[in-house]
Amino acid sequence: MAVMSRATSSRWAKLLLLVAALCCLVYPAVSVKHENFKTCDQSGFCKRNRAYADSAAASSSSWVSPYVLDSASVTFSKGQLSGTILKTVTTSDRPVRLPITISFFESGSVRVTIDEEKRQKGEIELRHGSKARKERYNEAEKWAIVGGTKLSSGAAAAQDAQPGTSKIMYGLGTKFEAIISHSPFGIEFKRDGELHIKLNDRGLLNVEHWRPKIDKPQEEKKEGEDDNTEPKALTEDESTWWDEAFGGNTDTKPRGPESVALDVTFPGYEHVFGVPEHTGPLSLRQTRGGDGNFNDPYRLYNADVFEYEMNSPMTLYGAIPFMQAHKKDSTVGIFWLNAAETWIDIVKSKSSANPLSLGIGSHTDTQTHWFSESGLLDIFVFLGPTPQDVVSSFSELTGYSQLPQQFAIAHHQCRWNYVTDEDVKDVDRKFDKSQIPYDVIWLDIEYTDGKKYFTWDPLTFPNPIGMQKQLDDHERKLVAIIDPHIKNEGGYSVVDELKSKDLATHNKDGNIYEGWCWPGSSYWVDCFSPAARKWWGQLFQYAKFKGSAHNLWLWNDMNEPSVFNGPETTMPKDNLHHGNWEHRDVHNLNGLTLVNATFEGLVSRNKEEEKAGGVRPFVLTRSFYAGSQRMGAMWTGDNQANWEHLEASLPMILSLGVSGFPFAGADVGGFFGNPSRELLTRWYQAGAFYPFFRAHAHIDTRRREPYLLPDLERGIVTQALRLRYALLPAWYTAFHAASKTGAPIVQPMYYAHPGDEKGFAIDDQMYLGSTGLLVKPVTKEGASSVDMYLPDNEKYFDYSDYTSYSGPGHVKIEAPLDRIPLLMRGGHIVPRRDRPRRSSGLMRFDPFTLVVVLGNDGKAEGEVYLDDGESYDYEQGAYIHRKFTFSGATSSLASEDVGIKGKKTSQYLQQMKDVQVEKIVIVNAPSSWKSKTEVDVSEEGTTSSGSSKKAGFGFISGEAGKADWAVVRKPGVSIGGGWKISFA
Ligand code: GLC
Repeated sequence: MAVMSRATSSRWAKLLLLVAALCCLVYPAVSVKHENFKTCDQSGFCKRNRAYADSAAASSSSWVSPYVLDSASVTFSKGQLSGTILKTVTTSDRPVRLPITISFFESGSVRVTIDEEKRQKGEIELRHGSKARKERYNEAEKWAIVGGTKLSSGAAAAQDAQPGTSKIMYGLGTKFEAIISHSPFGIEFKRDGELHIKLNDRGLLNVEHWRPKIDKPQEEKKEGEDDNTEPKALTEDESTWWDEAFGGNTDTKPRGPESVALDVTFPGYEHVFGVPEHTGPLSLRQTRGGDGNFNDPYRLYNADVFEYEMNSPMTLYGAIPFMQAHKKDSTVGIFWLNAAETWIDIVKSKSSANPLSLGIGSHTDTQTHWFSESGLLDIFVFLGPTPQDVVSSFSELTGYSQLPQQFAIAHHQCRWNYVTDEDVKDVDRKFDKSQIPYDVIWLDIEYTDGKKYFTWDPLTFPNPIGMQKQLDDHERKLVAIIDPHIKNEGGYSVVDELKSKDLATHNKDGNIYEGWCWPGSSYWVDCFSPAARKWWGQLFQYAKFKGSAHNLWLWNDMNEPSVFNGPETTMPKDNLHHGNWEHRDVHNLNGLTLVNATFEGLVSRNKEEEKAGGVRPFVLTRSFYAGSQRMGAMWTGDNQANWEHLEASLPMILSLGVSGFPFAGADVGGFFGNPSRELLTRWYQAGAFYPFFRAHAHIDTRRREPYLLPDLERGIVTQALRLRYALLPAWYTAFHAASKTGAPIVQPMYYAHPGDEKGFAIDDQMYLGSTGLLVKPVTKEGASSVDMYLPDNEKYFDYSDYTSYSGPGHVKIEAPLDRIPLLMRGGHIVPRRDRPRRSSGLMRFDPFTLVVVLGNDGKAEGEVYLDDGESYDYEQGAYIHRKFTFSGATSSLASEDVGIKGKKTSQYLQQMKDVQVEKIVIVNAPSSWKSKTEVDVSEEGTTSSGSSKKAGFGFISGEAGKADWAVVRKPGVSIGGGWKISFA
């Protein structure tokens, strides 16, 4: 990449823009360069494992898996079964020994781990004099797993196991069973006697064991001899065992073939969800060809995929190998703990009990097949029975999502790039002038001095502190990008230290690995190394990162890692990391390790702050793995400013949400290209319902800050932003729930209504936490209405005018440009703050509005969680957590404390004592309230009758099709107090 002066580059940029614009007239859309990324056929182990599956299927009746659990080796004690699996190989009379442990946890989860004895003992040889480790990679758990692995004391071996099997009863009330067949090896998991998951049922278990490379002499062909050699059908295809070339790079594979694979069948399950990050529907598609199906498996190999395509199993930036299978009223799941390149095939097979039964008794099994290039075979099994159970078991293992600072869930404004500190200040002022709320402005790579992170361009950002000060005046923040590639340039202290301390990733020969990224020639910090993480962390100290202030937070991008000249835009697989693990083994964890180091650095960037208890860091990441949710937010990378990408963002975010990483968003407006005014407006309306809500744009795009829009659209976008801000208490409450239970922040239909089959495949509408707010953002050009699906008999009410809709079934919701299809489900109470402000920090002491939406049964329930929105004091009880209940029977609304008191509770309550509930709106109010003019309010701590106060009350009859509603004005109760309002 040539270095150009700013002036020349901008002239070129303009010319290129013109050319691009002209090209657009010919080429309607840009698209991914398929040739840069492997298909299954081009990935040796993927092809081999698919071929293995094909030969098993072709000889299905005679196929016997060559893996046998040696019965004599099986022991069970203290919640763990151990033994040795013997793999028969045709080339030797000695089987390959594969130690297995099956761990039963208190939580009800089970872990099955298979290793290889020779490699455990280091009894293998590496080729090419490689220094790589001999073991199978066994440290993925170190990064991904943080809890839930206490072995079960109640799990017990059942006495009635059939001969040749072991049977373990486990789970609360031992309602779960694992039946382990020895020959061939396989496991069936049952819940309450019913079969839910089968491992190795199709016999596709495959552990490619270590073997020496035997160089076969080249057979000389005599002249005239034809090529009619023996058919090769029965021999294995060795062509990709020892090295593999792709796109001009050769992977030297010092350990030869070493993949692990297993089939997992979900009998009776038609839907599977999860395994982000991919585009395409939430309910995963089949991958073995056929109408409407993919031809390739879903791939997990974190990569910087330029101009990624829609509806594809291609890999993207992050990987969470967690899958849920769902059927009516039952959810189960698995987590494949492996950080190497992974592919997942999905096939749904219909079977019918009786061919004449015309579908009665027929069911669909979902058959999945997982293969990873290296490492342990390590799989966790969750038996549900609800989606909530499965997601929370997975979150217990990999960690709950961070409770972010409040600003982080407000509106972010980013672009590549705000070009000077004055530019940033100007944008900030313009937001204020237009009265458009925002909390965070972002700096992309151009703020640095020549792409050297931890520096500022002295010409364009001479006064970073002054810039951050202006933002701080309105409680706003700055987020700056810091990538893991470190510019290889003399005199840059960061690179000098990286080299002298030997903290960078190494190439296969053990020398520092050099590659190409934004700065040109670069090195990559190896955050697998504790020393590197520590060093990286201290770079964030204010004294080191000069010009950074306390309101500066971080964006870690390109952490797959993205290497412009590397194979598949990433590092060679034979690169070496700390501990001499090959990059191949750890690839999908790479992004997580960087964020981990940044997070830790931010926690301790200032001694004083740390002593005072510290503030919660904010880090945005592009690359991720299971566990990344503990450290911040993610976004879906470089999308495009078109309607398809807007539409695709919803299933992507939903998929992340049900996979334990709910703090997710997509670039609002689309990264590449210039959105039309309509598209941008609709995107803001959708973005107002992304958990992570940031507008971003590529360097070649036109400016598109919302204040630049014409009056009409600007007004509409402002309304969407104000809606986000008004609902921040509901969002924060949902984030709090996620941080405690792993519950998705925006929830798909199957998750909220697991018994409603019609909703299982719906992925274009979603609930905000447990608020009952159901939104279906408009994602079609020119649309003026949407069809929304209502799953149940409850009434749903339009958020702004209380038009009433009844389900179950589809209803048409009018959605001209200025309307977001947003309904409130009966039975819920939603907390709000209605005063428009410039930033969320300025809302800290604002009063609340409660919207009570009475259900068919005349009841409603809801909650609010709030704390100071920045510190860790909530861990010592400095928070308010109230549950609101409207009882139809007593016709009263009560606020009840559901928090746990701690050292700092009363201090926080004292601070918040004047924060009141200023208004209560009751939608679907009973007509018997018509003539009421006041209600009784009693507060906790005051004596009954005499001390109750009155509050003003009004009743409004809904016009045609709209609900009646009522309002309580200034009840004079505090948000943190206990109180009861009687409407009787
Ligand atoms: C990557 C990021 C994008 C960013 C750009 C420059 O493409 O995905 O968001 O603007 O790098 O840093």
